[in-house]
Amino acid sequence: MNFTDIKNIEDQFQVATYKKMNIAVERGRGSWVWTSDGEKYLDLYGGHAVCATGHSHPHVVKAIQEQADKVLFYSNLVYSEVRAKAAEKLVSIAPKSLNKAFFCNSGTEANENAMRMARMATGREKIVTFSGGFHGRTADSISATFLGKYRDIGRPNVPGHVSAEFGDIESVKAVADSDTAAIMLEPIQSMAGVREASPAFFRELRKLCDGLGIVLIFDEVQTGVGRTGNWFFAGSPLADSVEPDIISLAKSLGSGVPVGACLVNQKVSSVIKENDLGTTFGGGMLAMAAVVATLEAIEKDNMLGSAASAEKQLREGLSGVAAINAIHGKGCLIGIEFDDKCRPVHAKLLENRIITGTSSNPNVLRLLPPLCVAADEVQKLVNVLREIMSTPAATAA
Ligand SMILES: Cc1ncc(COP(=O)(O)O)c(C=O)c1O
Repeated sequence: MNFTDIKNIEDQFQVATYKKMNIAVERGRGSWVWTSDGEKYLDLYGGHAVCATGHSHPHVVKAIQEQADKVLFYSNLVYSEVRAKAAEKLVSIAPKSLNKAFFCNSGTEANENAMRMARMATGREKIVTFSGGFHGRTADSISATFLGKYRDIGRPNVPGHVSAEFGDIESVKAVADSDTAAIMLEPIQSMAGVREASPAFFRELRKLCDGLGIVLIFDEVQTGVGRTGNWFFAGSPLADSVEPDIISLAKSLGSGVPVGACLVNQKVSSVIKENDLGTTFGGGMLAMAAVVATLEAIEKDNMLGSAASAEKQLREGLSGVAAINAIHGKGCLIGIEFDDKCRPVHAKLLENRIITGTSSNPNVLRLLPPLCVAADEVQKLVNVLREIMSTPAATAA
């Protein structure tokens, strides 16, 4: 089918809820995708922060194919070798105190379960989240999302959600108290425009939570699974080694096979009893095979190292470029802040066959490439962006 036919059919038969680029992706390998028209694009958006191992990594594809041939699915009513391996592997790379996993299907579901566990562990209801944070679109997660219009479109909201200012410990102290079940945050606020906080902020949050008996949740749906050049933001120097009580994960965890997870410490997991949590598809064999292979591929190909190198190369390559005010983020979660709107740059990059992303900050262009993005691929972006920005008024529409 050619692009026009594909677009017309999608538009006719789907609810018009996504702003799409005018390409139809047909296949992918590594950092590249090919369209229905046979054009090749450099994907620096990583399939929406999902394809950490690159598109169709051979190790992941082989594991999924082999698993599909054995058994696609059985629920948690039975034991499974591949689920055992996924849980063991995930816990083995997690910060030391987070020694149990709960599998689900998406980021929003991981956050719903994280908040539920926090309420069960504390017997309290209030949840503190942050201005600019995004946690998903199901009822509790969207109520915890104080970014843009999301809470409004999620009305009526789940009661008990309050917000504080990201990076400002005094504002957290003003709302967190002995009625608070959890403080939940994206350690780097991706959708808000790749906003960062100081390591000291995480240390202060840990102290506050310990003092008041509050569960600390890191929503690592974007920052987890190697994205920042660390397996997790939690426990890394970025967080001053702070370990939260729960980490929520999704996106990269299955290289594109839908899967989410919560990593939980003993203090919280010990209060969860039979049938307190559950989901039919969570921990299914196909998803678990994808998790094992994804983590193995990241390890085998030293993708934590390549994510860190990509950031360094990008920062050096773009230093001094006119109209770029700042580069935010870590590893393969990068926000390039322009002094004007980034949409024209996004469009020009697409004309040059490079896929990038925008954010809710109109001036911040987001890069979420595969962790294995190669030096020549980063250089291609640097060269094209330098070329685009040398044109007068490049950020003008
Ligand atoms: C930080 C964060 N949390 C949660 C979610 C929700 O994940 P999902 O779309 O898998 O439900 C997202 C999605 O973009 C996210 O970026």
